[in-house]
Amino acid sequence: MSDKISIVQSLRDKINDHNYRYYVLNDPLISDSEYDQLFRELENLEQKSPELVTQDSPTQRVGTTPLKSFGTIQHSIPMLSLENAMDEDELRSFYERLQKGLNNKDKISIIAEPKLDGLGVELVYENGFFIHGSTRGDGITGENISQNLKTIPSIPLSLRTNKRNAIQLLEVRGEVFMTKSGFDQLNKTRLAEGLDPFANPRNAAAGSLRQLDSKITSQRPLSIFCYEAGNINGETFNSHKEFLSALKDWGFPVNPEVKVVNNIDEMIVYHSNLENKRNTLPYEIDGTVFKVNKNEQRNVLGARSRSPRWAIAGKFKSQQVTTIVTDIIASVGRTGAITPVAKLNPVNVGGVIVTNATLHNQDEIIRKDIRIGDTVLIQRAGDVIPEIVKVIQGKRSSNTVQYFLPKLCPACEHEVFRPEGEAISRCQNLSCPAQVKGRIEHFISKSALDIDGFGEKLVNQLVDNKMIQTVDDIFKLNFQDLVNLERMAEKSAQNIIDAIDSSKKTTFNRFVYALGIRNVGSHLSKVIERAFNANINDFINATFEALEKIDEVGPIVAETITRFWKDRSNIDVVESCLALGVKLDSGSELHSKKLENKIIVFTGTLTQFSRAEANAMTESHGGKSTGSVSKNTDYVVAGNAAGSKLNKAIKLGVAVLTEEEFLKLIK
Ligand code: IVH
Repeated sequence: MSDKISIVQSLRDKINDHNYRYYVLNDPLISDSEYDQLFRELENLEQKSPELVTQDSPTQRVGTTPLKSFGTIQHSIPMLSLENAMDEDELRSFYERLQKGLNNKDKISIIAEPKLDGLGVELVYENGFFIHGSTRGDGITGENISQNLKTIPSIPLSLRTNKRNAIQLLEVRGEVFMTKSGFDQLNKTRLAEGLDPFANPRNAAAGSLRQLDSKITSQRPLSIFCYEAGNINGETFNSHKEFLSALKDWGFPVNPEVKVVNNIDEMIVYHSNLENKRNTLPYEIDGTVFKVNKNEQRNVLGARSRSPRWAIAGKFKSQQVTTIVTDIIASVGRTGAITPVAKLNPVNVGGVIVTNATLHNQDEIIRKDIRIGDTVLIQRAGDVIPEIVKVIQGKRSSNTVQYFLPKLCPACEHEVFRPEGEAISRCQNLSCPAQVKGRIEHFISKSALDIDGFGEKLVNQLVDNKMIQTVDDIFKLNFQDLVNLERMAEKSAQNIIDAIDSSKKTTFNRFVYALGIRNVGSHLSKVIERAFNANINDFINATFEALEKIDEVGPIVAETITRFWKDRSNIDVVESCLALGVKLDSGSELHSKKLENKIIVFTGTLTQFSRAEANAMTESHGGKSTGSVSKNTDYVVAGNAAGSKLNKAIKLGVAVLTEEEFLKLIK
């Protein structure tokens, strides 16, 4: 037993060490996949011996049940804010005040830090273990967001020290933020899923921390830099520099741009260097923070009611300027999303000439009441596309023109469709020239027709050379077409032709998924396949009412589908594919009706088959698998370490099966 404890403990230490090297030292020793492997190993061991799970285990970061609401936490020392210095003069007078306050006698060393544009939080550790964490709130009381903070991988769940017990209390303050690249990635995913994008990384970080379900937070790319102390019992520091270096040793990420400066001139140099560097940093900052280094001097200087006298925030020049909207146009994205874009009188914003700003969608134009001819305040933040903050109403002339998105797609003039409840209008035309590349990439992707060797580069070449204009053109390609392309070897050309050929023998559900009908994903394609017995003509001719009757197809999807087929050219593309040899077999043929009308929930860690296999098996025997247990559930199949769903099943008297029993049932 003690052997087991020490194996699990040393694996945990190993993972924590790698975490520390990655997030704090920025010097990883192993690849992500090696890390994942260690992590899975620990998960497995802990599942076999749940009694060995500790509160600071890296497996314990995501909570199991969503909260109903956040509680509150009182900060033991108020979280003050910072006074602002808007320019060099104000920084100079701050420094003079310091000199006066310290009687001009002592040398003043200052710690200079970036002012991060995120959310201030407090993390509380008792005897070296994370106890809870909160937002800044009004400075006195914040919201208890412990569960969400724990999901941030760079926040240590326990301190990296052997003397944990000696540090009875440690309150650490820092800023939670999203990197610019994490933000771009998140918005890309949201757009692809038809969700509204976040306006900027700060909003995205705030929205992520405010989730009641920490599973959602855990999927958001959040980071933290720690920069101040609240209460500490069991350790004392003479200076901020000492404190920051202890923070680093204990495993907290500290901003690498932090620097000691020794006089006002060095402060100003730091400020302007950081401002020049601003756009190249991977996260957003909106200024510098200067803090007196020595704690003794901080105590002498003291605080006003809202901000300490020993610190100041130096603001950067505004990245906001005004300009005029000369026109508004509609642009069609790769997935058919139609986005209004404002054309601007060119202006310099923080060193970059801006001529366009995104208006996101029609609702946004109405909400901000933006018209052609308006004078507007625009802002640029890092790599984010410039956007309009607001209209300067006082400057509106009488001849401004309101704008409404066109009813026809500006690229192909087919009808535009805005599904109910969605903010984005879309063009559903398979032949729309603005979407060719996006459509083809989806058509050939793994879960769709899965055509091997057909990468993004080849798609670009073929589309740019006008060799492909719609997805059916793929099946018209021959060896000669490909081998004539730049840098295409004969062998690769033949491999691609072979892959295209074998992709023709596909299933109804893959093909329907490949068409990229809005909201018709992999799963729904299978549902539709079953509903129409894999008959594509029946699907094409289905009425709204017939579609709506299908279990899992709601009115919005039914309308999307009928609108898709209303466009004759979409049917032409499908018919052309079939004429070129595409064969649609039934992929999810029923093996049996053993689970007919049965609703099954899989929970815990499955060891005999994967979740996807479990779902496929259930469907192929006529059943349906869902995510939550209710009185309508017929069976709960419980894998290892099943938790709340298993408990609920027992409480509701739902039959519980092991994986083996499930397999027997469908045998
Ligand atoms: S020190 C009394 N350091 O700015 C000291 N704050 O306007 C207050 N912030 O609420 C905190 N970067 O959320 C400090 N390097 C940094 C900071 C920073 C960003 C935020 C923090 C605070 C706000 C004050």
